[in-house]
Amino acid sequence: MAKVRVGVAGYGTIGQRLADGVALQGDMELVGVADLAPTLAVQALRERGMPYNLYLAQGGDKRIFAEKGIPVTGTFEELADSVDIMLDASPGGAGAENKKIYEARGVKAVFQGGEHNSVAEVFFHGYANYERGVNKNYLKLTSCNTTGLIRSVDCLDRRYGVEKVVVTIIRRVADPGDYHRGLTNALQIDRAPSHQAVDLMTIMPHINATGILVHTPVTHGHMITVVVSGKSKITKEQALEAFREHPRIRVVSVAEGFLGNASFFKYARDLGNPRGDMYEIGLWEDSIAESGKDLIYAIYIPQESVTIPETMDAVRAACGMQTSGQEGTEKTNQYLHIGSYRQEGSHALWNSYDR
Ligand SMILES: NC(=O)c1ccc[n+]([C@@H]2O[C@H](COP(=O)([O-])OP(=O)(O)OC[C@H]3O[C@@H](n4cnc5c(N)ncnc54)[C@H](O)[C@@H]3O)[C@@H](O)[C@H]2O)c1
Repeated sequence: MAKVRVGVAGYGTIGQRLADGVALQGDMELVGVADLAPTLAVQALRERGMPYNLYLAQGGDKRIFAEKGIPVTGTFEELADSVDIMLDASPGGAGAENKKIYEARGVKAVFQGGEHNSVAEVFFHGYANYERGVNKNYLKLTSCNTTGLIRSVDCLDRRYGVEKVVVTIIRRVADPGDYHRGLTNALQIDRAPSHQAVDLMTIMPHINATGILVHTPVTHGHMITVVVSGKSKITKEQALEAFREHPRIRVVSVAEGFLGNASFFKYARDLGNPRGDMYEIGLWEDSIAESGKDLIYAIYIPQESVTIPETMDAVRAACGMQTSGQEGTEKTNQYLHIGSYRQEGSHALWNSYDR
């Protein structure tokens, strides 16, 4: 089977990571990335010797790139003409505009969480509803928090059955370097229910979900506490067994040194992971507790990298590369070396990067 040709629109926080993710998939070819400004990420791409071809997004001025010595391969339309599927990681709302270009060419696309759900035929998660995305043209990924939340709830739901979840999300207020979000020192609460709980119900309609979200002035990850009511009681041991077996959930403990969000970020950097990224969500073993029939646990969401694996799943579903969620997610996991930490002394993600 010929490799699926993939383009990335928007080379920002998510787009850079999508490009790296596609480059690691043995059965996909990254044709190029598109952006409209010579951002620091684009300048870093040039300084790295242009490992990816850069195309000019709508509204970009080629002369500004030329002044900075950044080579531009072609226009956005030319990129769209050369691919089977676009991964659109432009700012929320811009994807819907770009979609007109994809539609005119019959090119498939996967959009990220900042777009309205109406941009796509299927609101997609690699584990919870992979089959709904098979051979569809337009998929939209869940947001970072929802991606991680659904991974953990789906993990329990598949094995034991879940009726209801209640979440509290402690949300990082900005990504590192986001000066436009201000220098803050305050907490801010959103109106309930949080969109993540509503999104979970859209993808898993058999589960009743609600929750609140609190913005916090940190940049390294979100934290979510989740209260789950099983169809019948789920014990701490049963939950732990299921979480430990899930490829994209990394079970850790306070006792081993994972005190909070910063511990994960520092650990990922110590591993040498590019940009301090992690594809797995973190789940604290010592946060799992039973309360009557219910179960509570806490997860860590590395917001910049958590949606990358599920976006690779979306390409696999939309292009019919694998028709079952199990096969699709397994292929993605294989190419991204997810779970390699379970093999003693081998950190294959870093070894696979030719840098
Ligand atoms: N940052 C996160 O933690 C995070 C996590 C999950 C999902 N998302 C979602 O991913 C999407 C992208 O977010 P981000 O944080 O990477 O944004 P970003 O601002 O870091 O990057 C967006 C990039 O797109 C470029 N761009 C602007 N207009 C464009 C256009 N018309 N076509 C192509 N490129 C264009 C910008 O120059 C910029 O480089 C959003 O939908 C967002 O909600 C973000």
